[in-house]
This record gives sequence, C-alpha cells and structure tokens, in this order.
Amino acid sequence: MSLGTTSAASGGQLDDQTPLTLDASNVSVSFRSPRGGWNTVVDSIGLGLERSQVTVLLGESGSGKTVFARTITGMAHPAAKVEGTVEFDGVELLSADRRALRRLHGDRIGMVPQDPNSSLDPMRRIGGQITETLLQHGKAPNRAAALVRATELLELVHIADPERVLHNYPHEISGGMRQRVAIAIAICCEPELIIADEPSSALDASVGVQVVRLLDDLRERMETAILFITHDIGIAALIASKPHDRVAVMLGGRIVELGFAHQVLHNAQHEYTRALLAAEPSANTPRGELAVVPDEVRMRRDWGPLRDVEPGHAVASTPQEVTA
Ligand SMILES: Nc1ncnc2c1ncn2[C@@H]1O[C@H](COP(=O)(O)OP(=O)(O)OP(=O)(O)O)[C@@H](O)[C@H]1O
Ligand SMILES: [Mg+2]
Repeated sequence: MSLGTTSAASGGQLDDQTPLTLDASNVSVSFRSPRGGWNTVVDSIGLGLERSQVTVLLGESGSGKTVFARTITGMAHPAAKVEGTVEFDGVELLSADRRALRRLHGDRIGMVPQDPNSSLDPMRRIGGQITETLLQHGKAPNRAAALVRATELLELVHIADPERVLHNYPHEISGGMRQRVAIAIAICCEPELIIADEPSSALDASVGVQVVRLLDDLRERMETAILFITHDIGIAALIASKPHDRVAVMLGGRIVELGFAHQVLHNAQHEYTRALLAAEPSANTPRGELAVVPDEVRMRRDWGPLRDVEPGHAVASTPQEVTA
C-alpha cells in the first residue's frame, strides 16, 4: 500500500506517513461513441482515500461521479475502456480477478449504490439478503445469530419495524426504506471503505440527514474511509464535518478542485466551484440539485492539470495558465 503524498494535486494527503485505504492514480474511463472513436467520461483522476476521512465528490449530473466510483472498486461497465491503477491494501483492483473482487466487496469495501434496486434481489426477502451477506463473510456463526444482527442493523438505519421489514420483499417497502436497507447491507461487515453514491438523494431531507449521521458515526467508530457522492452542497458540508475531510469538485470527467472542505466550500479558487457556490438555487431547482452555472463555465473542457494553491488544496489551472 502506498503512502499519501504532500500534494493535493496528486490526489494524496497532507500527512505523508498515513497509508491510504485506496489509492486511485490517473484513472480514465471511455466508452465507444456512436459516432466512432471513444468518449472519455472520466479523465485522468488521481484520488487517495484515507482512514477516518470523508471525501465528498461533488458534481453536476453526467460529470462522471458514478462511473468513477464504480471503476475504482473494480466494477467498471464491461464495455468501458479503463486506464490507470487503483490500489487497495496491496491489490490492484483494475486488474483483479472476479474472485478477489468478490472477497473484498461487502466485506472490506461497502457500496451504497445510487439506485438501491440495482443491489437488492427483487425475488428474495430483505432478511435473507442481509443474513446471507453476514454468513458469507463470516460475520455471524449461524443463521439465528445473523438474524439478530440483521435486526440490529435495520434499527441502526432507523427502520422502525425491523421484524416486519426482514420478512418483506424489496417491492413491499418504500424507496427510502430500500435505500436504508442498501446502507445496512453496505455497513454490515464494517468495511474499511464505504462508497456512498448519492445515498440521501431519494430520501426526505430529515432521513437524508439521518443517513449522513449514520455514516459519520460509522467512521468515528470504525475509522472507515468514506467516498460520499452528492449533488447537494448542504449535504456535502454536513458530511465533510471534520477538519481533515475533503471535497473534490468534478466537472466533465475531471476533478477541477480538491481540498479540505473548509478550503473548497469557503475559499473556492476554481471558477466553476465559485460559480456553483455563488449561484442561488432557483425556485425551479429540484431539492438536492446543483444550481445552474453559466454554460461558458460549465461547458469548458480545456482545464489544465491540478496545481497546488496552498497545502492540501489544488485547482485545475485555466487554459491561459497552461499556455503561459
Ligand atoms: N455504460 C455506459 N455507456 C456509455 N456511456 C455511459 C455509460 N455509463 C455512463 N455513461 C456516460 O458517462 C457519463 C457520466 O455518467 P455518470 O453516471 O458517471 O454521471 P454522474 O455524475 O454519476 O451523474 P448523476 O449525478 O446524474 O448520477 C455520462 O455522460 C453518461 O452518459
Ligand atoms: Mg451518478
């Protein structure tokens, strides 16, 4: 496992002695374009995720957040062309075989997918799905113990009537409850890394806040590294609550600004981040959506590489700076 670096621009960390939980380096993802050639949707991203630290990935719809998150856990779409390296405890995830990935997923890497329907089996009761995960990864000695633990987990994600929900099929519970069940499954093995892809966007505001608190509590207790994807600046500020938590702003497949949360949210240096923070969400902006940034800023794709502007804070240079 590599160590963090002193440069935010490299995607690493301030403290160069702390081993990174996951180290993504120069990751690019492309899909075949219907017009021929390749369409690059994630472009040369480096990002280190550290124990006990939340990294928020903030970006508008289509900026590449989900593709990046799935790729760095070794779950890129089969049609994707993937470049770069991702290291997790000595395992290179982009070239790891399915068996190695299966061992890590659920056990040491927990995923809360953007769409909980994609991770829950519609044909099986919730209880069976949770107990199977626990038994598969050796987190319960037998089915009875797994059921007790499954009940606790549902209580932990604030499901009021866990015994009933354990007997339900996914379609028998609400979307918000399905999302919380997906979170319960993601955390059931107390993984070292959780990737939560917009875990609160389908939920009521108050439940969204509960989900944030739950993940925050987990990283306190288990020193979990968390990559938290969101559209919502308020939620970003809420989850990135510790001084060493970070925010990465994504635009057009690139990270254009990366720094500690207070640097990015209170002293943004990139034109796009500034526009994003300054733009008041209009009455027409759905809750949780990013406010509209002028097209001349958001459509620009010629930003240079990240450069450090202060310790821990890096910004993609403007085209003028690149040519200067
Ligand atoms: N399987 C695929 N084949 C081709 N293009 C894809 C595929 N999956 C994603 N893309 C493209 O990659 C880009 C990034 O998609 P992605 O789902 O990562 O966006 P996102 O930032 O997660 O957006 P949202 O906030 O809406 O979830 C989009 O232009 C999308 O159309
Ligand atoms: Mg997404």
